[in-house]
Amino acid sequence: MPVITCIEDLRRLAESRVPRMFYDYADSGSWTEGTYRANESEFQKIKLRQRVAVNMSNRSTRTTMVGVDTAMPVAIAPTGLTGMQHADGEMLAAKAAKAFGVPFTLSTMSICSIEDIAAATGAPFWFQLYWMRDRDFMDRLMDRAKAAHCSALVLTLDLQVLGQRHKDLKNGLTAPPKPTLANILNLMTKPRWCLGMARTRRHGFGNLIGHAKGVSDMTSLGAWTREQFDPELDWDDVEWIKKRWGGKLILKGIMDTEDARLAANSGADALVVSNHGGRQLDGAPASIEALPAIVAEVGSRIEVHMDSGIRSGQDVLKAVALGARGTYLGRAFLYGLGAMGQAGVTRALEIIHKELDVTMAFCGHTDIQKVDRGILLPPHGAAGTSPLPLHQVA
Ligand code: GLV
Repeated sequence: MPVITCIEDLRRLAESRVPRMFYDYADSGSWTEGTYRANESEFQKIKLRQRVAVNMSNRSTRTTMVGVDTAMPVAIAPTGLTGMQHADGEMLAAKAAKAFGVPFTLSTMSICSIEDIAAATGAPFWFQLYWMRDRDFMDRLMDRAKAAHCSALVLTLDLQVLGQRHKDLKNGLTAPPKPTLANILNLMTKPRWCLGMARTRRHGFGNLIGHAKGVSDMTSLGAWTREQFDPELDWDDVEWIKKRWGGKLILKGIMDTEDARLAANSGADALVVSNHGGRQLDGAPASIEALPAIVAEVGSRIEVHMDSGIRSGQDVLKAVALGARGTYLGRAFLYGLGAMGQAGVTRALEIIHKELDVTMAFCGHTDIQKVDRGILLPPHGAAGTSPLPLHQVA
């Protein structure tokens, strides 16, 4: 067993343990994957301002996201097919998140159901919803989420049509995998995964099968999206959801300042600056590039969160410095889950937390809630906070 010290270690282990089609599903971006790669590389361009001889004892990374206490400005993102990275994956990740004290978000396209998560954790979690043609089904999903005491609804706005991910098409992605020769040969190299799957009955889309009209053995994400996701979604629908849900609402998938204004006007409690992990509009900027202008536009009216590209605590700190109240881990927790189940998600959260805490200290801060652009060097740092005159900074 390799020594795990960073998210990249978890990624490598997941790659060796998770069947190819599910590892690829998590690890792909759309088309050229340019936006997917930019999400990570743009973080590297942001430089932190090191401070010394500042009292760094008694540090705190605690904050709130939509009024919910969290051990650090991090929540678990809604990710599809999580229960295919590891048997009962959503339940394991939700338990790890609860124990760590960060919010867990369950995707509509999960393998474990809303009721499974409620039974496994006994704690409030967040539920992610898509705007679908079958309004009765959407209604029932919201009622089920309410009955499970979900404390926020995360409405995804950027997946009414699906970005093409070449690997999913080439791999013939389905849940569970079809018994083709290629799949069987690949599964034979993943004994831990197979054993886990043999021990659970959760092999399909738990929120849909037996609940959505005409869906009894639905297997393909692509087919479901084409049939069910309603491309007519508009801002009136968002307001309808806000009223129908009646609780905390988070709008996910905002990349434009004009959309951010509309999101703030809709009465939602938070928006997530997100390009869906580079899985939708290939050619969009990195989320971290879009964040500052959105914070400047609406940051005083609505909580701004961000996701896409976070692989370290340093990334979380940079996003917070640029005005994000909180961030979401997608792939970073999926790698942990695929590598080692619940213990792997806990490990991912520990890694991110430690990196965040120590990096905050290097920057001379002890309270995450006081971190601002002053910890960044130009061009990202706020005017007047540079430790060097601007002309001396390359
Ligand atoms: C679903 O949200 C996906 O990106 O596949």
